[in-house]
Amino acid sequence: MRFRSVRPNDMPAVDAIVVPLFEDRAVAKTLDRAIRAVVDRIAKDVGVTRLYAVSSHFGEGPRIVVVGAGKRLEFDAERARRLASAGLKSLWRSRAKRLALVIDTDAGLDPGRAVRAAVEGVVFAMWRPEAHRTREEERRLPPLDTVLLVVEGDVKEAIKRGETVGEAVNVARRLANEPANKMTPSTLAAVAAGLAAEAGVDCDVLDADECRALGMHSFLSVARGSHEPPKFIVLRHAGRGGKGYDAGFVGKGITFDSGGISIKPAEAMHRMKADMTGAAVVVAALAALGKLGTRANIIGVAPCTENLPGGGATKPGDVFTSMSGKTVEVINTDAEGRLVLIDGITYAQREGARRVVDVATLTGAIAVALGHHFSGLFGRPVGFVDEVVAAAHAAGDRVWPMPLTDDYREEIRSDIADLSNSAGRDGGAIKAAAFLDAAVEEGTEWAHLDVAGTYWEELDRPYTPKGPQGPAVRTLIELAERIAPA
Ligand code: BES
Ligand code: MN
Ligand code: ZN
Repeated sequence: MRFRSVRPNDMPAVDAIVVPLFEDRAVAKTLDRAIRAVVDRIAKDVGVTRLYAVSSHFGEGPRIVVVGAGKRLEFDAERARRLASAGLKSLWRSRAKRLALVIDTDAGLDPGRAVRAAVEGVVFAMWRPEAHRTREEERRLPPLDTVLLVVEGDVKEAIKRGETVGEAVNVARRLANEPANKMTPSTLAAVAAGLAAEAGVDCDVLDADECRALGMHSFLSVARGSHEPPKFIVLRHAGRGGKGYDAGFVGKGITFDSGGISIKPAEAMHRMKADMTGAAVVVAALAALGKLGTRANIIGVAPCTENLPGGGATKPGDVFTSMSGKTVEVINTDAEGRLVLIDGITYAQREGARRVVDVATLTGAIAVALGHHFSGLFGRPVGFVDEVVAAAHAAGDRVWPMPLTDDYREEIRSDIADLSNSAGRDGGAIKAAAFLDAAVEEGTEWAHLDVAGTYWEELDRPYTPKGPQGPAVRTLIELAERIAPA
């Protein structure tokens, strides 16, 4: 599939044209008069103004898809993404190979932002979860040849960014979609190394012995019950040259979370193959930064292991010393994410990162608090959390700030060690964040995204196909771009 832009007056023959239609009915000026008339007629007949696609043939000419775009004043990048996805999906049985997307620049988005958003929407809508069907046509949508963006102006860079960012989200989806027998810590590390090499990003994978030498006993405690060797993935993007890191991204990489000795109920346990979403997100984001050549130095860290109840497994009550030096009493072996993350956060800081963002499917409690549409955001200082909110909003990820005060820090103290990894259900997502906070050193700005409510979508929609969602990939990329010195 190739993206290209064309001026409205130079539009070649295509199989289908996707046209946004706003509630005020004024059809884009960028359209040919004859087509405008057809679109007007469809609009009158069907009355589409919401996000809804209707397609119709126009004589011998192309199929015309009218997508309701809401109010012009409310049009933003997110609407543009959803609109493009809906338009594309409405065509997927039509065998259209060449597609034109009309970009309406009268609605408040400049051409660059509008094009980038439309390209992201198309790329998102092309992803399918059926990777293991034997029939090829069930594994993917019928491929398109060309997507033409009908717009005035030079939008090459916008197309490239939209494609790279959209593909990065799909990479994270693909990794999280893989079953745990095909995506072990070792395979994940190998895939990360491959993606890094393609993108010009450095990759080191630390094995158990190397982690032990660094004192990562909290991370390693989670791996004790599994036969699969743990892997600690480190990616380095040197975008501005020079020393040090402008930020560190840390992703939870539990390739299967059975709960360990504190075993989970069978219902929906299979979904815990995606408990490595944070790791997938960090890997995908770092690879995208490499491809985009973002001028910031970023380190990406992903501690990866299974959490299984084998004979060597951690027993409730066991105590381990983390890389930070703090001791942890493991009350519940199913609260394993925080155990791997604190060593990841410490490692990123030891490497010199003074801004750290972690992404993790950390607690069921965040879904109790926020449902499935917003990721929980924690951190300090407030100014940094605000930067993450702004980056997420601009990039199209939905996040919501949560409180984190000393009250919660007191509640996670252990009777016999520094920290307890489980302290009751109430406010569970906040207590988990408070635990991570214990690894954040003086002078480090830190944000934590709990994506356990947003990592998976049950309903199949154009913009969010059923399955893993790659939450926060776009936020991390956007944040790195904003951090990059101009
Ligand atoms: N990976 C789970 C959290 C999770 C739950 C992610 C549902 C996605 C969907 C995490 O490791 C976990 O088990 N958390 C426990 C913590 C508790 C034992 C303190 C939880 O949320 O119940
Ligand atoms: Mn768990
Ligand atoms: Zn988990």
